[in-house]
Amino acid sequence: MQQLIKIGIWMLPLWLLAACVLPRKPVTQADKVELGRELFFDKMLSEPDGQACSVCHSPRAAFADPFNAPISEGMIDGAFVNRNGQSLMYVSFIPPLSKNAETGEFSGGLFWDGRSNDLRHQLSGPLFNPAEMNNPDTSALVYEIKFAEWRKAFNRCYNKPKTELAQYNAMVDALAHFEESELFRPFTSAYDAFLKGDYRMTPEERIGYELFRGQANCTKCHSMDPIDAEGHVLFSNYSYHNVGLPRFEDNPFYTTLPTINPNGRSVVDLGLGAVVNDPLQNGKFRTPSLRNVAVTGPYFHHGGVATLEEAVHFMVARDAMGLQPEFKENIEHKWIGGMQLTAPQEKALVAFLQLLTDGFTEVP
Ligand code: HEC
Ligand code: HEC
Repeated sequence: MQQLIKIGIWMLPLWLLAACVLPRKPVTQADKVELGRELFFDKMLSEPDGQACSVCHSPRAAFADPFNAPISEGMIDGAFVNRNGQSLMYVSFIPPLSKNAETGEFSGGLFWDGRSNDLRHQLSGPLFNPAEMNNPDTSALVYEIKFAEWRKAFNRCYNKPKTELAQYNAMVDALAHFEESELFRPFTSAYDAFLKGDYRMTPEERIGYELFRGQANCTKCHSMDPIDAEGHVLFSNYSYHNVGLPRFEDNPFYTTLPTINPNGRSVVDLGLGAVVNDPLQNGKFRTPSLRNVAVTGPYFHHGGVATLEEAVHFMVARDAMGLQPEFKENIEHKWIGGMQLTAPQEKALVAFLQLLTDGFTEVP
């Protein structure tokens, strides 16, 4: 026994030497994705603890708000953001905000109003927004690293970052790796199966499909241009429009805590106009992808439209609905709002949109 202990003691420097000299397993993208996954679901990252990204962006609802709330509630009771939570599916395909020199039209950018260009930069939003995860500053956020279950993986992936800024950058980089991963771009809807010849549309779905890309002009914005050789489609060109929505009077943001919205009911959401500081762009919001749209209700930037049927009806027949638009000046008239479709035709459009939910496996 003593002999064994002696040998063990003699071996110790050798072990230490080996640990230093032998190459470590290199850090892969997959390691960062896994770390990002841990962070995404970690409820310790809010102040107080309890709200993870996944609370508002749940895998149950294509990474959109799972509670069908028009507006998500933040970590503090009664604290509401001002817009409907977005699905994070296919988010890595959204190009940066840019202005077309010829037409003067904007496209791209993250959030409904394009105010961020990068999944890493974007995160300063939810992590510090008092109506979301409510961290007072970077120090408070990176403080959690010491106690996190993912601490080891974090230090391995990012080489034990020393400064608070380096630690913060590492955290957002890991989260962005997760959002860029395969999980968020599966292309597994019935429509994708149809493209491969593995799904046959019902006659109604087929009518909806033909209307969508034909007479109903939906693809003018919810584009069906393939983005790769496999023919994958994102159902958005990320252009900005004022679709002429009325104000959503029951928006919980109007009555949230005065520290979050000091202007109460008089607050107006200018959308892109506030971001590019141009009144001509007021009331314009980014065209959402329609992938998974059947499971991401309620709809539109303010979440004021409850069902997919109503959302489609609005896009088709807005002008005949006699609504009061919030912004009257620059309403998009050319392609939406003034169509003469029958009720069965609108129903067919909805049936087609229901084919865009990922995770389709077999004919129901
Ligand atoms: C309180 C609910 C809430 C929490 C928590 C939250 N988000 Fe969000 N998220 C939203 C809302 C609402 C929007 C849309 C905001 C807007 O357009 O102004 C959004 C938008 C986004 C977008 C832009 C999507 C697009 O299509 O442009 C990304 C990316 C995102 N969130 C990622 C995250 C990540 C990562 C976390 C965790 C660090 C997180 N969010 C935490 C509610 C939340
Ligand atoms: C001129 C561009 C344009 C055209 C054409 C267009 N849309 Fe949209 N669509 C948008 C924009 C922009 C929004 C978001 C507006 C907002 O929230 O303020 C939107 C939102 C939607 C939504 C809500 C999605 C969500 O996640 O909240 C649905 C559903 C929808 N459109 C369906 C259609 C259908 C069906 C057609 C064809 C009948 C169509 N759209 C034609 C630009 C367009």
